[in-house]
Amino acid sequence: MQDRKATSIAFSNIALIKYWGNRDHALRLPSNSSLSMNIAALTTTTTVEFRSDLANDVVQIDDAQACGSAHDRVAAHLDRVRALAGITTKANVISYNNFPAGTGLASSASAFAALTVAACAAAGLQLSTDELSRLARRGSGSACRSVPAGFVLWDACAEDNCSFGRTIAAADHWDLRDVVAIVESAHKATGSTEGHWLADTSPLQAARVASTPARLERCKAALLSRDFSALAQVIEEDALMMHAVMLTSTPSLLYWRPATLAVMQAVRTWREDGMPVAFTIDAGPNVHCICPADSASRVETLLHFLAGVERVLVSRIGEGARLTS
Ligand code: PMV
Repeated sequence: MQDRKATSIAFSNIALIKYWGNRDHALRLPSNSSLSMNIAALTTTTTVEFRSDLANDVVQIDDAQACGSAHDRVAAHLDRVRALAGITTKANVISYNNFPAGTGLASSASAFAALTVAACAAAGLQLSTDELSRLARRGSGSACRSVPAGFVLWDACAEDNCSFGRTIAAADHWDLRDVVAIVESAHKATGSTEGHWLADTSPLQAARVASTPARLERCKAALLSRDFSALAQVIEEDALMMHAVMLTSTPSLLYWRPATLAVMQAVRTWREDGMPVAFTIDAGPNVHCICPADSASRVETLLHFLAGVERVLVSRIGEGARLTS
């Protein structure tokens, strides 16, 4: 094979209806469907070059050489791409996140979406968005939702070939903002790959999974009709359901800090006072405050006044992953 190179950019995403737990861990087939929106302000840009002079894959992330499990996870994903393309050539991977390291926002979603799109192009594969999303899922489940644009639904499905994200509304369907309150920048103690394994140890997971389709339908309806108060109710309910499972797993996963709870309570008070804003939280302590665009600067200002909020990041809804060269 000739040496081939491609660069791509992908956005991270925030789930409004969460993915937590797998029915098949090896294939990353989720226990339940999820729905997210891409975050335009958080990007990963990745260049993949297949080079016949390399004996091993070389991976550089934010100017540091990746080693150990971080390297092996990327190499395993490249193996999937090589298997599809029928090649054995090793690759040089250079990846940059536009969000500063140590903000607690490092995202495997944008990383594996960007890696998939760049590696497939560099390997000469021409895959559809559905196929790219399906493949990205194998690197990190939520990465499948960062391949298509805007608001993305990942339908739980028992087979590899039907498990991928698809756009249900374009990025400009509803001008929402994600105002992220960063309350801690340290790396999380238990990553989501490990967390998915623990989900079924909670007696609450079965109830969460069984009740997700109803929340998903409410969330979809709220999104499609741009009904913010219905959206606020359902996304907070869903995030709390996931954290209830995390808290009651064995071992228990407690991602919140005092400032996490302070932001959650403040958001509820602001909403009672008439401001359209709602919270959601991933596997970490930082709080994503979702609101219409015209409330974003007020939410940002109010968050700065809360003790324990280190910094605030405001983002629009992002497009899908794409090649830049
Ligand atoms: O794709 P993973 O393995 O990083 O899992 C993502 C899990 C959550 O961020 C907590 C929820 C979600 O749906 O994104």
